[in-house]
Order: sequence, then structure tokens, then C-alpha cells
Amino acid sequence: MDDTSIHPPIRSYVLRQAKISRAQKEAYEKYAPFYLLPYDPEKSVFDYFPKDEPLVVEIGFGMGHATVEIAKSNPSVHYLGLEVHTPGVGALFARIHADKLKNLNVIKRDAIEVFSTMIPRESINGVHLFFPDPWQKKKHHKRRIFQQSFLELVFEKLRPGGYLYAVTDWEDYAQQMLEYSRDFGKFKNSGDGFINPKSWRPMTSFERKGKAKNHEIYELYFEKPDGPLM
Ligand SMILES: C[S@@+](CC[C@H](N)C(=O)[O-])C[C@H]1O[C@@H](n2cnc3c(N)ncnc32)[C@H](O)[C@@H]1O
Repeated sequence: MDDTSIHPPIRSYVLRQAKISRAQKEAYEKYAPFYLLPYDPEKSVFDYFPKDEPLVVEIGFGMGHATVEIAKSNPSVHYLGLEVHTPGVGALFARIHADKLKNLNVIKRDAIEVFSTMIPRESINGVHLFFPDPWQKKKHHKRRIFQQSFLELVFEKLRPGGYLYAVTDWEDYAQQMLEYSRDFGKFKNSGDGFINPKSWRPMTSFERKGKAKNHEIYELYFEKPDGPLM
């Protein structure tokens, strides 16, 4: 029995009985053989992607609208989406197929596990974390994916010059992200504050919901230095 079976890890999601539409289910079954990569902790994502070409990873793409738009606009970059909920994965597969995208694949698994096992050190160019689950109640904050350990993990896997782009509509989560990055201190622009949205970032479903509730949007962009930190 390993440690995790005694102390199950705290996950940033809860797998509910997902309501899946017939179209999402059909797309999932039909296209998984083409776009879904198996989770295999013994393998590297570069068993599937060319090592010498840029790879950007999105954590928790939801329905994947932004994911598809970004991949479409950047055909020379490879994108790997990580998501645990089947309906969104099915919806994304239908879009990948409709748009004939060749540069977007999915692993349906906890991002923390994929990062810990399948992504080599200093190998990826960017990480997108758009509207992570906010876990609003204080007693649930430990479930938030953006923790000190998350920053360390992402930093380790980014190539020098690589970036982490995190966006949330929850002010206290945004402040926590800033605080953690300041304490971490290794990213070039740790703790400099929020940025204007990157022009290439499309609106996501959760962003739309947040805006409908008059939530402000907080954007954070961290770069791994190419040389020593000054
Ligand atoms: C609030 S939704 C945001 C979805 C999308 N990014 C958007 O902005 O519309 C967060 C998503 O992250 C996914 N998620 C949460 N923790 C995850 C993890 N550890 N690994 C992969 N996906 C995760 C959830 O399943 C959910 O779909």
C-alpha cells in the first residue's frame, strides 16, 4: 500500500456524476482514438509531441472554447489540454474535428499528476490556467490548485523564458496568487501586480459567467527567467 492510499491527495476538483449530452458522448467516443492521449506515468508527453517544437499546456479547459481559438491562431505551437470532466472533453473533441486542428490533444487526468509524472523538467513553453475553480469557502481554500507547491511544479517544468498565465474573477484568489508568487520569488515578474489581458486570450465560459455577476477579471503573467534573476 503506498502513501496516497492512506492519505488521499487533496484534489482541486470533485468528480460529480457528469451530465453529458448525446452529442458530447458521441464526439467523445468517436474522436478519443484520435485526440486523447493515454495517461501513463511511465511515459513522457514528448513520446507524443515533437521535442524541438513548442508545447503549451492548458489546465482545466472546461468546454474548451478558448483552447480551440488559441490553437487555431497558432498552428506552429502544439497544445495539450488537461481536464477531468468528460462532457467538456467531448465538446472539445467535436470542435477539434470541425476545425480540423492538428495541434491540440487532451489527457483526461488530474493536471497535478500529469505534471508530476509525464512532463519532463524545463520542457514546456507555457501554461494556461484560466478561471480555476475558486473554492470560495475558507475551509476549502486548500483545494485551490494555485498553491506554493503548484508554482514550484510549474516552474520546474517550464523552459527558461516560458510563462504561466493565470486568470481569475475571484479577487481573494487573485490576491492569494500574487502573494504566493511573491513568496516564491523565482519568476521574473513575481508580485508585480495584475496585467491587462493579452490580446490573444479569448473569452472563456466561466469568464462570461463571472462578468454576468459583475466580477472584475484579474490577470497574472509570470515568466521563468532566461538568465539569473537580477
Ligand atoms: C471553473 S472551470 C473553468 C473552465 C474554463 N477554463 C473556463 O474558463 O471556462 C475549472 C475547470 O478546471 C477543471 N479542473 C479542476 N482541477 C483540475 C485538475 N487538477 N486537473 C485538470 N482539470 C482540473 C475542472 O474540471 C473545471 O472544468
